[in-house]
Amino acid sequence: MDKVPPKIDPTVPSPARIYDYLLGGKDNFASDRAAAEKVLQLSPNAREVARANRRFLIRAVEYMTQQGIRQFLDIGTGLPTQENVHQVALRHAPDSRVVYVDNDPIVLTHARALLADEKRVVAVEGDLRRPESILDNPQVTKHIDLGQPVGLLLVAVLHFIPDEAAYPAVAKLRDRLAPGSHLAISHISAEDLDEKTVQEGKQVYAKSSAGALVPRSRGDIQRFFGEYGLVEPGLVWPDDWRRTEGEDRIPRMQGSDCYAGVAIVR
Ligand SMILES: C[S@@+](CC[C@H](N)C(=O)[O-])C[C@H]1O[C@@H](n2cnc3c(N)ncnc32)[C@H](O)[C@@H]1O
Repeated sequence: MDKVPPKIDPTVPSPARIYDYLLGGKDNFASDRAAAEKVLQLSPNAREVARANRRFLIRAVEYMTQQGIRQFLDIGTGLPTQENVHQVALRHAPDSRVVYVDNDPIVLTHARALLADEKRVVAVEGDLRRPESILDNPQVTKHIDLGQPVGLLLVAVLHFIPDEAAYPAVAKLRDRLAPGSHLAISHISAEDLDEKTVQEGKQVYAKSSAGALVPRSRGDIQRFFGEYGLVEPGLVWPDDWRRTEGEDRIPRMQGSDCYAGVAIVR
């Protein structure tokens, strides 16, 4: 990336740009590439995890459009890549409306550039740790009707938030969702990594703009869905979530775990 927008310190890696690098993108700085290389040393399959996660995101949005969802709230949007949420949603349901929310100013700069002519999509700055500031943001409430079902996407974002903020935040979001809403979550796990590797990984993200990495067990990830039932196939390796027949499979490998699932709000 050549130009550095104001408010950005290019010497501090950001999760969005580390992830962009893992996905093969170009919107990253030297600090992000160094952090991502360290992640790859610790978890050599991190690129596959990122790709599997993206596939889950695309399939979850497709699935939600098939279930009649026409409003999407994507918190922790990340930098634009191939097949962004609004492109998938609008391809399957042209009357969809999408709100992107991220707390990284560089993500907002890119999203707004991409969306300049797109009336069905807005991008707002917001922090998942303060869900009311998202749900009560007039830009959000003007664009989508929270009284109607929403597809809430919390994809590869909750593992940057410690327990004391993450669980209450998701509970507040769940409480505000209308019946028929769908909640998609994917989340890093490190159950089969040794403690030293986990600690070193946490240090990489402790020095990033996120300030933390919190891998969780499958059981602790499941708790984010509250009482809502997961649709088939449940909470699984992201590329095993409704992969269509004939599609190649990104294998789940030792030391690179991630879980993904979708629940319906009743
Ligand atoms: C790994 S990327 C995931 C992008 C996309 N959801 C995906 O799965 O492909 C994580 C994103 O979450 C954002 N993020 C991290 N903490 C956040 C917070 N507290 N509130 C909002 N966004 C956050 C980061 O800026 C980054 O863009």
